[in-house]
Amino acid sequence: MRIVVARVSDFPSGDRRIVRVGKRSIGVFHVGDRFYALNNHCPHQGGPLCMGRTAPAATSQGPGDFAMNDDDFFLACPWHGWEYDITTGQSYINAAEPGVRGYGVSVKPGKSLDGGVRFPDRVPGPYVAETYDVHVEDDYVVVDTSTTPIAR
Ligand code: FES
Repeated sequence: MRIVVARVSDFPSGDRRIVRVGKRSIGVFHVGDRFYALNNHCPHQGGPLCMGRTAPAATSQGPGDFAMNDDDFFLACPWHGWEYDITTGQSYINAAEPGVRGYGVSVKPGKSLDGGVRFPDRVPGPYVAETYDVHVEDDYVVVDTSTTPIAR
């Protein structure tokens, strides 16, 4: 199913739209020059995931050093705070947060920052939000729900 969301000119970067089609609710996000779409249903306990706050991913090479990466955004569920990579729907746990310490997880800053590890300071969580293909077609933002899930 193709869903026309909005004209690109009416959908500025940093904005989001929540569209409802039948029983399905989908959040569409304009981040930089790209669009992303996720199911507005948190895989944790069904919260309205796409109503949550978004923030760029922060990276650090050590104490006192940090940078915000505007190409990688996280979406935090407003119910319990699980954070999802907005491009893949993968949940992540910040390795520095107390809840993770109980599992003995440790990440060494600056070690293995490449090699396909998308967020080396985070540990993938058990939840993956459903994502959809979204593209621009004749100046309109269009979500295609027939090709889920998106593998990026
Ligand atoms: S329902 Fe989303 S974090 Fe719990």
